[in-house]
Amino acid sequence: MKKITITALSIFFLFFTFHFDENVETARKIVKDFSKILKSELTTGMRNGGAVNAISVCSVKAPEIAKQLSDSTDWQVGRTSLKIRNIKNKPDEWEKTVLEKFENELKEGTDVKTLEYSETVEENGVKYFRYMKAIPTGGVCLNCHGSKIKEPVKKKIEELYPEDKAVGFKKGDIRGAFTLKKKLD
Ligand code: HEC
Repeated sequence: MKKITITALSIFFLFFTFHFDENVETARKIVKDFSKILKSELTTGMRNGGAVNAISVCSVKAPEIAKQLSDSTDWQVGRTSLKIRNIKNKPDEWEKTVLEKFENELKEGTDVKTLEYSETVEENGVKYFRYMKAIPTGGVCLNCHGSKIKEPVKKKIEELYPEDKAVGFKKGDIRGAFTLKKKLD
C-alpha cells in the first residue's frame, strides 16, 4: 500500500514538475522573441534618424509587439520596472517584489543576464503561472534612459511622458523586466 502511494506521489510530482518546466520554457521563448524584435526595431530606428526617431519604436512598437504576442499566445506579455517611463507599465505588488529581489541578487553578484523568477500564484481564486526576466541596461539604452540625454531627445520624452522616472540608468543596471502571466486551468 505504502509503495503504491509513493509511486502515485512520484508520478504526480513528475507530472507537476514537467508542466512547470514547460511553462518556464515557453515563457523564455516568448521573452527571447520579444527582445529580438525590439532590438532589431530599435537598431533600425536609430539608424534611420537617431534617438529622436527611435523614441516612437519604444513608445508605439513595444506595446504593439507585446499585444501581438499576447493575442497569439495564451500569455499576457509586458514590460515593467521600478522606475517607469510609461505609467501603463507600472508593476503590481507581485512584480514589485520580484524586481526588488532582482536588485538584491544583482548587488550580491549574480549576473544580470541570468535573473529570472517564476511562481504559481492565486489571485481572486484563479491560479496563474507568472514569470519575470530582468532586462539589463546596455550602452544603446543610455541614449534615452541614461543621465546625459541629448536635448532634443530629452524634450520629446518629456513631452510624451511628463512623469518619466526611467532616467539616470548606468550600463549593467537592471532597466526593468519582461513580465508574463498565464491562466492555469
Ligand atoms: C530612442 C529612445 C529609447 C531607447 C534607445 C531605449 N528606450 Fe526604453 N523606452 C523608451 C520609451 C519612449 C519608453 C516608453 C514605452 C511605452 O510607452 O511603453 C521606454 C520604455 C522602456 C521599458 C518599459 C518600462 C517603462 O519604463 O515604461 C523598458 C523595460 C525599456 N524601455 C528598456 C530599454 C532598454 C533595455 C533599452 C536598450 C536596449 C532601451 N529601453 C532603449 C525609449 C527608449
